[in-house]
Amino acid sequence: MNTGKILGAFLIATAFGGGLYFGQQSGQATVITNAAKGSSFTGGYDKTADAEVRDAGGEGVGNSRALDHSVHDGKTWVINEGESIQAAVTQAQPGDTIQVMPGTYHETVYIDKDSIRLVGVIEAGKRATLDGEERLNDAVLYSGNNIVVENFRITRYKGNGIMGQAGNNFEIRNNVIVDTGVYGIFPQLGKNGIVEHNVISGIEDAAIYVGMSDNIHVAHNDVFDSVAGIEIENSRHAIVENNYVHNNTGGVLAFITPGLPIKTTFDVIIRNNFIIGNNHHNFGAPGSTVSGIPAGTGILIMAADDVIVEGNIITDHKTAGIMITDHHNAPNVTIDVGSEPNPDRVAILDNLMMNNGYQTIDEVKALMLTELKTGPADIVHVGGGSDSCIINRHRYNTVGIGDFGLCDFTNTDEVVTYLLDTPVPPREIDPSERGKVAYLGICTGCHTYTGRMIGPPVQQIQALYMDNPEGLANYIAAPIKKRQDYPEMPPQSYLDAETRLAVAKYMLSRED
Ligand code: HEC
Repeated sequence: MNTGKILGAFLIATAFGGGLYFGQQSGQATVITNAAKGSSFTGGYDKTADAEVRDAGGEGVGNSRALDHSVHDGKTWVINEGESIQAAVTQAQPGDTIQVMPGTYHETVYIDKDSIRLVGVIEAGKRATLDGEERLNDAVLYSGNNIVVENFRITRYKGNGIMGQAGNNFEIRNNVIVDTGVYGIFPQLGKNGIVEHNVISGIEDAAIYVGMSDNIHVAHNDVFDSVAGIEIENSRHAIVENNYVHNNTGGVLAFITPGLPIKTTFDVIIRNNFIIGNNHHNFGAPGSTVSGIPAGTGILIMAADDVIVEGNIITDHKTAGIMITDHHNAPNVTIDVGSEPNPDRVAILDNLMMNNGYQTIDEVKALMLTELKTGPADIVHVGGGSDSCIINRHRYNTVGIGDFGLCDFTNTDEVVTYLLDTPVPPREIDPSERGKVAYLGICTGCHTYTGRMIGPPVQQIQALYMDNPEGLANYIAAPIKKRQDYPEMPPQSYLDAETRLAVAKYMLSRED
């Protein structure tokens, strides 16, 4: 989203009406709401409406773990420095635990079976370190269900630290991920998963990127020195809480990327985080989605619905504390008719906001002038969206939220978690679905249909390989550098030849 250029068209359309509007606002009485006594949000996730889990039993949500660990009661493999982790994973059976002793390991670990627990052993502060030496693409790639990855130190990979490809019921915790390529922790297409107690820094795109997933809990992570801190993208029923997010370009983001096969983001609770001084200069790959985030954005909500922001400390952001925008005001975004472009029903409850928007972008300054304001901006809303609300609005410096009503709830106390008390059944992949699942779980991490993401748009690829799925399948096994202005595509040679051909055919058949 090239928010650097955001707002331009909007401003021209509204510049003349704004002053008048502001005149009406200033006459409003201050409404003081007592959050400590107010009612709780009770909407959100309804298990009985979710066919995938309804039949699995259980009492509803309310768990603090994604997994019932009795699935890991198999054998324990102990790996010492100098031995291969992958060799053990290859031999392991579902239910087994792989214990990796402190030391340095240079490999990519692929887990393509269910119920494996990959655990680093920490001895007197010494961790099992996965070091990609700036030559390997990914540290851990899992496609199984019920996977646990914990206690590692991961550094110097070019692609991902830990990436989930369509695995359900995952737990990624207590890892230290430093200077590791494009995505730090990236569960893609997973349901019922937790990302907690990780320390992640120096990531060129998103430190934590939850993509096309459901029922996710992101908590107690320390995320810094990256372009995007925590990103909830094309996902539903996610809670982001108790994280420390500082010195990134943008702190916490909830948005819809158009052109992906799953088209919505809704029901996201961002609460009780420390979101502090995310003013890092943007070092995202030129043209990538995040490269347009203006430095100094605390929370960014783009086109996502039902996002609740509560109890955060949001301070010291030069552009804005909270920026809410639609797709139309983000010129880098190609409109996808399948995605509703407006952020609807955003709820801003009590947050501590201070010293935000003190050196904002020109577009926000101009927008403020339409409301006869010049000062700093805690909350900025640009473009469309309806039925949003706020409490105690008089506390903040705001622009563009004149049509926000008063929320009819003041907290989210009754929503403890969206994790499931009974893990979802493992995703069984029918051979006929192999291409589709690989596309959703892997390729869409870098390719959207119409726009540029990390890689070129699928439409462009279709034009190149229209009648040649074999050619496409060969390319992804051993990609060569073709476009000067793009990074290299990582080889997908870990997929077997049949899956490579299936995903090639599937990519060529997509129409959105
Ligand atoms: C980590 C990011 C990433 C992932 C994941 C990824 N790609 Fe790519 N892809 C790229 C980049 C970057 C390029 C551009 C490379 C270049 O032009 O040098 C690219 C280019 C391509 C091309 C263009 C080839 C050509 O001849 O121009 C094809 C085809 C392709 N990718 C297919 C796929 C498929 C299929 C998948 C999933 C199995 C996939 N990619 C997953 C990043 C990725």
